[in-house]
Amino acid sequence: SVVNLQEVHDFLVEVAHQAGEMITAAVPTAASSGTKKNSADLVTETDRAVEKMVSTRLQERYPDFLFMGEETYKEGDALTDKPTFVVDPIDGTNNFFHRHNYVCVSLGLAIEKKPAVGVVFNPYTNTLYTGIKGKGSYLTDATHKHARLPLREPEAFQDLTHCLVAVEWGSDRDGNDYEVKCNTFRALAGSKESGGAMVHGLRSLGSAELNLCGVASGALDMYWENGCWAWDVCAGWVILEEAGGRMVGSHPGDWKPKLDQRRYFAVRGGERQESIIEEFWGHVKGRVQVG
Ligand code: IPD
Repeated sequence: SVVNLQEVHDFLVEVAHQAGEMITAAVPTAASSGTKKNSADLVTETDRAVEKMVSTRLQERYPDFLFMGEETYKEGDALTDKPTFVVDPIDGTNNFFHRHNYVCVSLGLAIEKKPAVGVVFNPYTNTLYTGIKGKGSYLTDATHKHARLPLREPEAFQDLTHCLVAVEWGSDRDGNDYEVKCNTFRALAGSKESGGAMVHGLRSLGSAELNLCGVASGALDMYWENGCWAWDVCAGWVILEEAGGRMVGSHPGDWKPKLDQRRYFAVRGGERQESIIEEFWGHVKGRVQVG
C-alpha cells in the first residue's frame, strides 16, 4: 500500500514535541550518563527514555513499519526496503550533557532505503525543520513563523574560499579515520600558502541533523563528516534535498550516496552547486590519504 507521507509527517511533528518536553525537562548528570564505545561517545538516561517513548508511539500507530534507533541499534542491523523509522532521540548528546543548546530530536522515515520524511526539532530554541519528499521543506521558528526553505534565494557559489563549512569530529578519534578527518580539516582551513583552501570558517557545532538543516536553510554552505550513522542524517537529508541542497559522499566521485554509508558531504542549493562539489573533492583528494 502507498504510504501517506503527509500523515506520517504530522504524527512525527506531534511525537517530536513530546520528545522535546522530555529533553528540556531533563537534568543530565554524570550519574545518569555513561559512555558507549569510548569516552567521547556519551549516552544519557534521557536518550534511552526518549527513544523508548518514540518507538512505542510509532509502533502503536504504524505496526507494519520497522524501527531503527540509535540506542537500540545492534551491530549488523541493516536497513531493508520496508518503510522504516530512523530515529535519533537526542542528536547532539554531548551538547545536551554540557547544556549547550545545539541539540535536536530527529525523526526520519525511509522507504526503499531512501529518506522520505524528516522532522528535526530543537526543543531549546523551539525550532522545527520538516520535509516531505516532493513537497518541500520548512522551518517553523519560535515565533511560529513558518517559512519555506531555503530562507533566501541562494547566491551562486564562487569558490571554496568563500564558503562556511561545517565538519564534525565525531567519536572515532584514532587510526586512519582520524587522519582523514584531521587532514581534511587542514586542507579546508589552512591558508593557500599552507596548501589549504582558506575557507571563511570551519564550524564543529555538534549535531549532524542540525548541520544538515543549517545547509538547507542557507546558514551554512556545506557540511562534511566521516563516521556518522543513518539516524544522524535520515531526517535532515529530506529537508536538505527539498531545499535544493544536495547530499553526496565524502569520497571523490560518489554522486549517489547510500543512507547508511557513514561518509557524507552536503551542499546547499545555488548555481554552480556541481562545480563546488567537484572543487571540494578535487581539493581534498591530493591532500588526504583515503584508506
Ligand atoms: C552525533 C552528533 C555529532 C556527530 C556524530 C554523531 P549523537 O550524534 O551528530 O555531531 O559528529 O557523528 O554521532 O551521538 O549526539 O546522537
